[in-house]
Amino acid sequence: MSSDREQVLREMGLGPVWKLRVEAVAAPGEERVAATPAAPELVPDGVAWSAPAIVTATSPLSMPWEELAATVAACRQCRLCEARKQAVLGVGDVNADWLFVGEGPGAEEDERGEPFVGQAGKLLDSMLAAIGLKRGEDVYIANAVKCRPPENRKPADEEVAACRPYLEQQMELIRPKLIVALGATAAQTLLQREIRIGAERGKLHDWRGVPLIVTYHPSYLLRTLQDKAKAWEDLCYMRAAMQALRSA
Ligand code: URA
Repeated sequence: MSSDREQVLREMGLGPVWKLRVEAVAAPGEERVAATPAAPELVPDGVAWSAPAIVTATSPLSMPWEELAATVAACRQCRLCEARKQAVLGVGDVNADWLFVGEGPGAEEDERGEPFVGQAGKLLDSMLAAIGLKRGEDVYIANAVKCRPPENRKPADEEVAACRPYLEQQMELIRPKLIVALGATAAQTLLQREIRIGAERGKLHDWRGVPLIVTYHPSYLLRTLQDKAKAWEDLCYMRAAMQALRSA
């Protein structure tokens, strides 16, 4: 492992937990072999989509970035507009190959108008760095809802549904090569069914023809040390998926 990467993992508090290689179990008398996660096959996971668990509130949008930004800034489609300081549309490269989608702004994001700038954001930046990515460089970061849910509660189904056309419009404008859903709220918003991250990670899903991977939300990882190794596997998996997509 390069010293840069070790440094990144140390800063994330992940050094001893995350490893690039996964040790395979050795047969008696055999040497242990190191294996990296298998490159994903570039086919949708084939899971039949059940009827949407979440009801959509508004019809699909079709608007350019400027109009989308103005519409989101002035949005009053749900009660989250009441307590927000500002709506947080997203940040990054609008031509990015990578799109990361989180849940919704917290207090710092509401204050600064940018997604993932608090503790979870620091971890996300470190996770990106661990696979050679940087916020704003071929990476766009958005959220399922654009306004802060009070007390950092989870956004309600109707709030997610009211905001979904904005996210979908962002995704249509960006048309990334790969979407990464961070946590169940983002995954459910995009895949329109109940998602348990533990059961759906490590697979290529599909959003309107764009491959989609689900992984743990950084806030969850800050609370749940034991799943950081799995998050590292997911990072390796998404990096391998992107390599395969680029060479397809
Ligand atoms: N958590 C999220 O899901 N999004 C943010 O922007 C910040 C924290």
